[in-house]
Amino acid sequence: MNEGSKLKPIFPKWMNAFPTVMFFAVNTAVICVIAGMWYYATPKFWEVGYMPTQPGGGFNHQIHAGRLGMDCRYCHTNVEKAWHANVPAVKTCYGCHAEGKLLISGGSDGISKLHNEKTQFIRDSYDADKPIEWRNIHVVPDYANFPHNAHINAGVSCYSCHGQIEGMPVVVQVESLSMGWCLDCHRDTEANLVPKERITDLWWVENEWFAKPVDERQHGGKTPEELKAMLMRDPPLHCSACHF
Ligand code: HEC
Ligand code: HEC
Ligand code: HEC
Ligand code: HEC
Ligand code: HEC
Repeated sequence: MNEGSKLKPIFPKWMNAFPTVMFFAVNTAVICVIAGMWYYATPKFWEVGYMPTQPGGGFNHQIHAGRLGMDCRYCHTNVEKAWHANVPAVKTCYGCHAEGKLLISGGSDGISKLHNEKTQFIRDSYDADKPIEWRNIHVVPDYANFPHNAHINAGVSCYSCHGQIEGMPVVVQVESLSMGWCLDCHRDTEANLVPKERITDLWWVENEWFAKPVDERQHGGKTPEELKAMLMRDPPLHCSACHF
C-alpha cells in the first residue's frame, strides 16, 4: 500500500517553480545593486581629469613651479599652516608681473609683446582691486573633514594627492578624492611618506623616492620606517575622525 499517495503535498505545485523564480529574483537584485553602485560611484571617477577653464588664459605651473623652480609655498602660503589650502592673491602675481617689470631675457619685441598680452589680466585685476576668480578644482564634500596642514606636516608630498604639478601647464585632478582613496593611504602610511624637506620637490619625489621600492628608499639617513615612527599618531581609520 502506498501511504504517500494519500498525503497532501506540503507545498502547492506552483512552488516547484520557486527555485527558478528565486534565481531570477536574486539575480535581478544583484544586478540592481551593481547598477546602483555603478551609478553612484561613477561620477567620482569622472572628477578625475577635471580641468575647468581659468580666467585670463590661466596659470601655468609648468613654467612657474617647473621651469622657474618656484616653491609651492611661495604662492600656496597656507598649505602647512591651515586646515584649508589657499590660492595666491593677485598681489603675489603682481610682484613679478607689474607693468614693465618682467623683461623676458633674450626675447625679441614680439615675444615681450605676447608676454605682456598674456599677463595683462593680472594688471587689470590688480588695478581694479578685484581678485582673479580662479575656479576650484579639488573639492572634498562638507560632511567629510580634510585637514590639509596635518598631511603636509606629517610628510605627505603634494605629489601623492595632486600628481606631478610641476609638469602641468594646466592643473588637472588626478586622484578620485573618494573615501576609499583616503583610507588606502591611511592603511599604508609607510609607502606614502617622504622626507619633510622634500615635500614640495615633486620631481625628486617622483623620480628619486617613489621610483624605488619602499624598502630601498633612503634619504639623509631616513627610511620610510623611520619617517613613520616620527609620526605623532597613525592616520585615523575610525568614522568620527573624518565625519564629526
Ligand atoms: C606663482 C604662484 C604659484 C606657485 C609657485 C604654485 N602655484 Fe599652485 N596655483 C597657483 C594658482 C594661481 C592656482 C589657481 C589656478 C589654477 O588652478 O591653475 C593654483 C592652483 C593649484 C592647485 C589646484 C587648486 C584647486 O583648485 O584645487 C594645486 C593642487 C596646486 N596649485 C598645487 C601646486 C603645487 C604642488 C605647487 C608646487 C610644485 C604649486 N602649486 C606652485 C599658483 C601657484
Ligand atoms: C617670481 C616671479 C613670478 C611670479 C610671482 C609670477 N610669475 Fe608669472 N611668469 C614669470 C616669468 C619669469 C614668466 C615668463 C616665463 C617665460 O616665458 O620664460 C612668467 C609667465 C607668466 C605667464 C605667461 C605664460 C605663457 O604661456 O607664456 C602668465 C599668464 C603668468 N606668468 C601668470 C602669473 C600669475 C597668474 C601669477 C600669480 C599667481 C604669476 N604669474 C606669478 C614670473 C613670475
Ligand atoms: C593628503 C593629500 C594632499 C596633500 C599631501 C596635499 N593636498 Fe592639496 N588638497 C587636497 C585635497 C583633498 C584638497 C581639497 C580640500 C577641500 O576641499 O577641503 C586640496 C586642496 C588644495 C588646494 C586648493 C585650495 C583652494 O582654495 O582651492 C591647493 C592650492 C592645494 N591643495 C595645494 C597643495 C600643495 C601645494 C601641496 C603640497 C605642499 C598639497 N596641496 C598637498 C589633498 C592634498
Ligand atoms: C597619501 C596619503 C594620505 C591620503 C591620500 C590621505 N591622508 Fe589623511 N593622513 C595621512 C597621514 C600620514 C596622517 C597622519 C597625520 C598625523 O597625525 O601625523 C593623516 C591624518 C589624517 C587625519 C587626522 C589629522 C589629525 O590632526 O590627527 C584626518 C582627519 C585625515 N587624515 C583625513 C583624510 C581625508 C578626509 C582624506 C581623503 C580626502 C585623507 N586624509 C587622505 C595620509 C593621507
Ligand atoms: C580618512 C577619512 C574617512 C574616514 C576614516 C571615513 N570616511 Fe566616510 N568619507 C570620507 C570622504 C572624504 C567622503 C566623501 C567621498 C566623496 O567625495 O564621495 C566620505 C563619504 C562617506 C559617505 C557618503 C558616501 C557617498 O557615496 O555619498 C558615508 C555614508 C560615509 N563616508 C560613512 C563612513 C563611515 C560609516 C565610516 C567609518 C566606518 C567612514 N565614513 C570613515 C572620508 C572618511
